[in-house]
Amino acid sequence: MTMRSADAASAVHVCFRNVSKRYGPAVLAVRDLTLDVFRGEFLTLLGPSGSGKTTALMMLAGFEEPSEGEILIDGQRIDIVPANRRGIGMVFQNYALFPHMTVAENLAFPLEVRKVPRPEIVQRVNAVLDMVRLTGVGSRRPDQLSGGQQQRIAVARALIFRPSLVLMDEPLGALDKQLREQMQYEIKDIHARLGVTFIYVTHDQTEALTMSDRIAVFNAGSIQQLSDPAALYERPQTDFVANFIGENNRLSGTLGPSEAGEVSVLLDGGTLRIRATRPEAMTAGAGAPATVSLRPERVAVLSDGATMPNELSAAVRSVIYVGDHLRLIADVPGIGPIIVKLPNGSGVPPLSPGADVRLGWRTEDCLALDR
Ligand SMILES: Nc1ncnc2c1ncn2[C@@H]1O[C@H](COP(=O)(O)OP(=O)(O)O)[C@@H](O)[C@H]1O
Ligand SMILES: [Mg+2]
Repeated sequence: MTMRSADAASAVHVCFRNVSKRYGPAVLAVRDLTLDVFRGEFLTLLGPSGSGKTTALMMLAGFEEPSEGEILIDGQRIDIVPANRRGIGMVFQNYALFPHMTVAENLAFPLEVRKVPRPEIVQRVNAVLDMVRLTGVGSRRPDQLSGGQQQRIAVARALIFRPSLVLMDEPLGALDKQLREQMQYEIKDIHARLGVTFIYVTHDQTEALTMSDRIAVFNAGSIQQLSDPAALYERPQTDFVANFIGENNRLSGTLGPSEAGEVSVLLDGGTLRIRATRPEAMTAGAGAPATVSLRPERVAVLSDGATMPNELSAAVRSVIYVGDHLRLIADVPGIGPIIVKLPNGSGVPPLSPGADVRLGWRTEDCLALDR
């Protein structure tokens, strides 16, 4: 532990300051990244493939050097801290357990390197196996475990030396959907119990929303938005984030007058005007092009006599049964298709292709974003 005087400073565990990483003259993998990670939080770097997530993690782990800027752990530049003193546990997609060693030997390895006495090693190996719910498999070899079990051992090995910081890069990428979802909850649960700082990398937005305290959305080497999951979903600040996180209808138009956090938007085609929420960060004014973001589950099919602040007439193109919801695709003349997700079971009127419907939604459920 380092000496700290101010609580505010001690709350920051990891700090990237204006960090850039170039690979040769052509690739700028990370651009001017500035990010504070708080002690004990679960922070996820989320973004498409090639957006710089792994590079950011590798620089923090010390496997790559920043081209510019600095990285601090506990207020100290990492390049002055030897790799084995950084207290970082790591898990990667390809779990890379030592195949010729037993599970117990794999787990003991980080402790042997740290010269932990033998009796304590035995005790800690058993404790960590209990934690990942694999009690008793210590004498097996990795190839005698399933993929999910191997990945749990990889998580256990990253945690056994009690790191204060854990980095995970797409650790569940190789697992099938059901196991991946189960492991998401298990890793989140381990994080809650240990209270150490986790920095997690994924390209899977559902995984990020499920697991994280905060999410940094990466695109082309820089952070587009840093928010908690609800804010990211409810109040995306850019068109990129709105489309990357969850499903989204995008309506193009031109901004009209703004008032009290709302803005009117004249949709392309020139006949339909809607009211949208205007994000605080938006700088564009009347006359500027904009994209309106509208989540499919926030659109209602209006029954006769019902009204909403925003309404459109549409013709049903198709209705798809998805079990827990119905997925309706409706064509709006001059605008294009709008996707609607209707919860299955409660008062959905019978809909068939060709039927005319009125769609409606609240002003707070659609966001105007800079185009
Ligand atoms: N060792 C390397 N040499 C050259 N280019 C690299 C290297 N590693 C990554 N890149 C490039 O840097 C960019 C970011 O890669 P990466 O950090 O792996 O993204 P992500 O993890 O988000 O998929 C990509 O364009 C990738 O091709
Ligand atoms: Mg990667």
